[in-house]
Amino acid sequence: MKHFLSTKDLDKNYILQLIQNARQLQTSQISSKLLRNKFIALFFSEASTRTKTSFQLAGMRLEAQVIDLNLNTSSLQKGETLIDTARTLANLGIDCIILRHSASEAALELAKALEHTKIKIINAGDGTNEHPTQAFLDLFTILECTDDLKNKQISIVGDCLHSRVARSNIYLLSKFGAKINLIGPPSLVPEELKSLAENVTIHHSLETGLPNTDFLMVLRLQKERQAKGLIESLEDYSEHYKISENALKKAKINIDRIKILHPGPVNRGLEIDSELVDHAKISLINRQVFNSLYVRMAVLLNLLWE
Ligand code: NCD
Repeated sequence: MKHFLSTKDLDKNYILQLIQNARQLQTSQISSKLLRNKFIALFFSEASTRTKTSFQLAGMRLEAQVIDLNLNTSSLQKGETLIDTARTLANLGIDCIILRHSASEAALELAKALEHTKIKIINAGDGTNEHPTQAFLDLFTILECTDDLKNKQISIVGDCLHSRVARSNIYLLSKFGAKINLIGPPSLVPEELKSLAENVTIHHSLETGLPNTDFLMVLRLQKERQAKGLIESLEDYSEHYKISENALKKAKINIDRIKILHPGPVNRGLEIDSELVDHAKISLINRQVFNSLYVRMAVLLNLLWE
């Protein structure tokens, strides 16, 4: 595979291969020195803790050289285009750019513009479009809890419209036969999201949307990407859509059969109650972060190991 831009067109066998590699990396069945002569550039123009650090550590664990190019202090600030900056990196012999950008399709644009070079592009989140490695680590984490996703219900609650995590997950999880259920106010979960995959349902209340959920993925309100006025107020949003023990009880969810995921960063008390974030039995949030390292190592190896 030349780049890692999207989950939409990923082949199921390729995904299964990556999952197997991530498992082997986790149990040290694959040597971790395989990218010794490779140079990776982190190219992030939006805030990030988890994604950036885990990519950085993933590269370091594989013994690649990882450089952190802060887009806000690069020549982009002097008027250079993103593509010219990336071309400079390609000419300097960088093997891989990991890009986070506020523009949807930025990673694809970059890949197209650098088509004639050897450089590989990984999309680490582009606008409201996709965040493929996040979805991939979510799938990996879910598959640690169940062997088969067929007919399992994944409910994604919150700002689905602006969430690249939701989009990549809808594409990816639906390939495994999961039923995708989106929950949130009509302004953030519009009907047209149904067309993203087969088997997508939409609910505008927790009470009707939560029953039958096996995995509950909670999203942050993507305020930086929202137009004004999409929700009445944060208090109103929390009142109707915050995931709490009470909301689960009201929807008659058996706490023993549900697992909760969140890509982070979490706004405790706003989209989910703090106790559930830390709930030892049902929260997979720490496990997602733990797994992210091995999943991103698998993606790097797949693109760069020769
Ligand atoms: C997400 C992102 O940046 O898209 N975070 C992440 O990468 N773990 C989700 C978010 O910002 O809410």
